[in-house]
Amino acid sequence: SYPEGYAHEPTTEFRHHHEMRLQGETIERIAPTLSSANKIRVSIGQTLPESGQWSISVNPTDSTQVLATVEEASDEQVEAAITAALKAQPSWAHASLTDRATVLRRAAAYLRSHRLEINAVEILEAGKPWLEADNDIGEAIDFLEYYAIWAERLGHERLDSPAGETNQLRYRSRGVTVVIPPWNFPLAIPMGMTAAAIVMGNSVILKPAEQTPITARYIVQAFEHAGLPTGALCLVTGRGETVGAKLVRHPQVSTIAFTGSRAVGLDIIEAASQVVPGQISLKRVIAEMGGKNAIVVDADADLDQAVPGVIYSAFGFAGQKCSACSRVIVHRQIFDAFVDRLALAAGTLIVGDPRHAATQMGPVVDDAAQKKILGMIEEGKSGSELLYQGALPELNGYFVPPTIFINPDRQSALYREEIFGPVLTVERAEDLDDAIWRANDTIYALTQGIFSRSAKAIARAADAARAGNFYVNRGITGAIPGRHPFGGFGNSGVGFKAGGPSYLLQFADQQVISENL
Ligand code: SER
Repeated sequence: SYPEGYAHEPTTEFRHHHEMRLQGETIERIAPTLSSANKIRVSIGQTLPESGQWSISVNPTDSTQVLATVEEASDEQVEAAITAALKAQPSWAHASLTDRATVLRRAAAYLRSHRLEINAVEILEAGKPWLEADNDIGEAIDFLEYYAIWAERLGHERLDSPAGETNQLRYRSRGVTVVIPPWNFPLAIPMGMTAAAIVMGNSVILKPAEQTPITARYIVQAFEHAGLPTGALCLVTGRGETVGAKLVRHPQVSTIAFTGSRAVGLDIIEAASQVVPGQISLKRVIAEMGGKNAIVVDADADLDQAVPGVIYSAFGFAGQKCSACSRVIVHRQIFDAFVDRLALAAGTLIVGDPRHAATQMGPVVDDAAQKKILGMIEEGKSGSELLYQGALPELNGYFVPPTIFINPDRQSALYREEIFGPVLTVERAEDLDDAIWRANDTIYALTQGIFSRSAKAIARAADAARAGNFYVNRGITGAIPGRHPFGGFGNSGVGFKAGGPSYLLQFADQQVISENL
């Protein structure tokens, strides 16, 4: 395998009775520990006076259940975090790449040994079905292991050095990195961005998503346990519009790693371009944003592959993935057969409480998401034809029924905008060219896929695809670090792919030392 020494972390085998029982027991054990008494505070390695402002984190499956009380960072706390991060950074940067890589590996070991507990927290806090939670932790471990290996490889590139001259390429840490992750992969995405910045010798201020602060706390614990010096990773909780906005505008921040919506990403890019007098670094922004991703189903596709591939890509974690399939484009010759089978397959989805092992789809993350998605579904009913809508479970949570439309109106939000929910549209294509054209009919360029048995058709679609990740005869979510480096272009983001060989370079400045002998 490449790079040598890296292997994808296997998922927990919940089909085994033993693992299943243990996970169930862990949920039972963890659930009573999460309540309004569970306080999550700004944490910068020293005691700070409380800000006095708090918000709550609730269980999306049962919105009456408070899981934590979370501190809203004050302006003073944000300043204190920046000061702590600035102070810790130079000596951390001084540690060797091998020592820094060792800290990542120890953090991975911590996650492994807390896996079922973190799964339980994600199930309760994010409404993740078991397998989705477990994959998130697997991916977080992968990022740590993969970046540890790549960091150790840096600095060995050869430059041309003629007789009498030696030339050397070095990587310098940039300073303080602000990490702003989403809630949908509440461990893997913040861990990936944090680990990359940390291993390159930066200090990090992590501003977790408001919906998933309890999961984020495990990131801090993993690094503490791994021996990262105090102040090199600060947790600064609070709302994006206030705390996040203040952090990205701070003149002493040099790098911002963001994953989330296009609207927020564009705001960060704009804010980062404002330079105040005396500011010594220009900010670098790495922004992974949305998608409006299509799967093409060709005339000769194997529907036994295509139907479950589309169903999981569209409805896995209730469609709340930037990689999710939002549009499926089907060759007219098999359109009717595909649509019939798609509706039947959607009807078998088990929608309900993610605390139960069998649940395949839980709630969406919060009230605002539920309202927005239900609104888009209602709007969709006026211009597009409803093919299928599932029933809602009788639970007091933020549920949205899995919903499929056919022949969507090209001007509608349903067709154009990222929905981030369990909603899929199906289009009929005249031929492969028409299907490829339709798949690219979006400003985004994140994921895309094709189901086909023709090598020629596959090659044509791959060449034409405006998408950072193109998948053939499989679903379009679930990228594995090292195997499927992940990230888009177009309006889907700026920066190198997460879990790929170039990702770490973004967290360093290159310096050449040229010596005349
Ligand atoms: N990396 C995730 C996936 O591939 C999305 O963030 O599904």
